[in-house]
Amino acid sequence: MDSLEINKAVAAVLVGGIVFMVAGLVSEVVVHPKRLEQSAIKIDTAAAAPSAGTPKQEAALPAIAPLLAKADPAAGEATAKKVCAVCHTFTEGGRPGVGPNLYGVVMGPHAHEKDYTYSPAMQAKPGTWDYEDLNHWLKRPAAEVPGTRMAFAGINNDQQRADVIAYLRTLSHTPAPLPQP
Ligand code: HEC
Repeated sequence: MDSLEINKAVAAVLVGGIVFMVAGLVSEVVVHPKRLEQSAIKIDTAAAAPSAGTPKQEAALPAIAPLLAKADPAAGEATAKKVCAVCHTFTEGGRPGVGPNLYGVVMGPHAHEKDYTYSPAMQAKPGTWDYEDLNHWLKRPAAEVPGTRMAFAGINNDQQRADVIAYLRTLSHTPAPLPQP
């Protein structure tokens, strides 16, 4: 083999290697597997509510606005009917159950139902149920309002929580505007 032949052979090996590498990169991009974080129907509730009075140090919650922007109220309704409806009704003028009726709760005052007897803790909570507040409340009710009577551990999954809040927002004749992400 003269030196030209050797050069050709080396070049062929190099080109082969490069093609192989590029093909690997491309297929990685094209068929990169995306796994679901969890099964699509699992309701992700917290393991246990922290004992009242000693709220656990939470990792900061992601801001609610971007989550609400891509939230699905229909999915939120399905979750609410499954996990909240044991205690709550959602229709206008609906009777309270273990918990108060939730129509018009978004942007309403805390303890928003006049004919429901709230815990002293909830009655003492100043302000309104804005989106950020609902986000914290539904993550860990007992940590957000220590002493609350809502015996519900919370929804851990951020998007699932946003979906439920997006559904609660629809329970109004004039739903409050969504926050700007
Ligand atoms: C085991 C019963 C129970 C479950 C399940 C439950 N709640 Fe409650 N909820 C209550 C009770 C009781 C209160 C009143 C709390 C208080 O007075 O401290 C309440 C209060 C609330 C409030 C405040 C209402 C107001 O007028 O200030 C909101 C909002 C709320 N619940 C949303 C939800 C959502 C959303 C779910 C489902 C993800 C849920 N709750 C699941 C029992 C429950």
